Amino acid sequence: MRIVDIIMKKRDGHALERDEIVAFVQGVTGGTLPDYQASALLMAILLRGMTPEETAWLTDAMVHSGIEVDLSDLPGIKVDKHSTGGVGDKTSLILAPIAAACGVPVPMMSGRGLGHTGGTLDKLESIPGFRTALSLDEMRAALARTGCAMLGQTAKIAPADKKLYALRDVTGTVESIPLISASIMSKKIAEGIDALVLDVKTGSGAFMKTEADSRRLAEMLVSIGRQSGVRTEAVITDMDMPLGAAVGNALEVIECLDVLKGGGTPDLVECSLELTVRMLLLGKVATDRDDAERKVRAAIKSGAALDRFRQIIECQGGDPRVVDDYGRLPAAPSRHLVTADRRGYVARLDAELVGRASVALGAGRDRVEDSVDPAVGIVITAKPGTAIDAGDPILELHYREQAKLDAALALAARAVAIGEEPPVRRAIIVGEVR
Ligand code: URA
Repeated sequence: MRIVDIIMKKRDGHALERDEIVAFVQGVTGGTLPDYQASALLMAILLRGMTPEETAWLTDAMVHSGIEVDLSDLPGIKVDKHSTGGVGDKTSLILAPIAAACGVPVPMMSGRGLGHTGGTLDKLESIPGFRTALSLDEMRAALARTGCAMLGQTAKIAPADKKLYALRDVTGTVESIPLISASIMSKKIAEGIDALVLDVKTGSGAFMKTEADSRRLAEMLVSIGRQSGVRTEAVITDMDMPLGAAVGNALEVIECLDVLKGGGTPDLVECSLELTVRMLLLGKVATDRDDAERKVRAAIKSGAALDRFRQIIECQGGDPRVVDDYGRLPAAPSRHLVTADRRGYVARLDAELVGRASVALGAGRDRVEDSVDPAVGIVITAKPGTAIDAGDPILELHYREQAKLDAALALAARAVAIGEEPPVRRAIIVGEVR
């Protein structure tokens, strides 16, 4: 089988056979396929697409490029949540302790922030001492002890994805529904879960800008999950504006702790509750939606979820005292307010631009190998819909260096629009695919 024939076949718009896809993935994993040929095929896939069958074969080949974790000896239905990525998207740190406190084991393998989007690992690592580089044995031990393990993808899980993602990142081939689906689902299937809730973001701050594309991605992800024996549901949620009030690692941890203490902005609380309720239902610890919602609210009200987060932090080497003393988290030395130049309503707060402003402050990375500053970021003091007077604060930028603040301000100024009337906003929960 010549790889050039496979490339030309996809270039000309034909569906590939399973053994052709397997040869491609094996060549990538084994290092025998040159990057230029892998990149050419990725571009052909981006332009020509893949059938659901081809996408399922690609996912399966990527799962088998590494090990498949077997968690069947641990009791309970193991449920994870995965988001396609957004700005201020911090629900993992809220729902994992709640679900674990309600009896659902949560093995959660997450990623780092890339581009304008944030990543769960960066947020967790802003807690002093918190280790996300757990071995698979440590993951099991954490699951047995606290019912939850929050870690990064190990080198043994879907190694083909690691190589392909790095190539896609530099060849303009990220925004392809089959490639995104195979990338996400190969890692999720390999981590040994029984069920998965997907949060597919839609809007300016998401990979998928339109509802139609987000739905197509959600349908593909759910279909692959089903075919692989992982019960999978997707919720499509808004990402035109940042979720919640904080963007930036330690700032987001504080906001998650506030939600676990019963606070939080309505959009963040609604999104977190919706995803957690589905985790409880898939984990079969609730009889129906009402029962699940009651249990989730009770876990917050009683302090059980907060207490579980303390245990998770301690189990993974972090300082659990941050839960009660935010002063133990990294904080930026300086703050700058972006204020309203006239009276009206906050009409728009563009998620992508706020995310890019936060990256400019140092909270995110442009390249996988960049480091992040856990302390810097942005606090939104007036969400879209808020009535404001001239001079009222809209954004509070937490910064360390003047040059970075200047770069962030240029983006932040473009992110905000003020209107005469309150904006018509779509719901946070846009749709579902089951
Ligand atoms: N997240 C992933 O893990 N892979 C993609 O391709 C996109 C988002």
